[in-house]
Amino acid sequence: MERTLVIIKPDALSKKIVGKVITTFEEEGFKIVAFKMVLLSREKAEEFYAEHKGKEFYEPLVNFMSSNPCVVMVLEGENIAQKVRDIAGNTDPQKAGEGTLRKLYAQDNRHNIVHAADSLESAEREVKFFFSENEIHHWEERIYKK
Ligand code: CMP
Repeated sequence: MERTLVIIKPDALSKKIVGKVITTFEEEGFKIVAFKMVLLSREKAEEFYAEHKGKEFYEPLVNFMSSNPCVVMVLEGENIAQKVRDIAGNTDPQKAGEGTLRKLYAQDNRHNIVHAADSLESAEREVKFFFSENEIHHWEERIYKK
């Protein structure tokens, strides 16, 4: 089954909308299989965003992502990486579609609430960056009343 990594960024914590972001994913029916809160060191943030090294937004991005904790999670499902990207919306909230997380909550293209892996290959690499296999849970969905 396909898995993807989501980072709920420090701006979402400050705005107290972590719950809303998670609710959005749950209401879409996405399955959470791993979840934790992390404070990225500067070095870890640099490593995570290494592909952007040299771009003008790299340093401020690394500063922001290591400034306060993030919530990281793994979601599992069919075509999940694309589905999460669709819900996140365009990196730039001004270009993001109506109803997307970034359109609803993001201030600008740095403080943009969530990171979602941009391909299946990135998703696999990013899941491993934050989680060991024994932190990723295999659980069965069951039906409960109420
Ligand atoms: P994310 O999905 O975390 O992946 C790379 C990040 O770089 C992106 O979200 C943005 O937060 C940031 N980013 C990309 N382009 C720009 C830009 N032009 N200016 C500022 N930040 C950017």
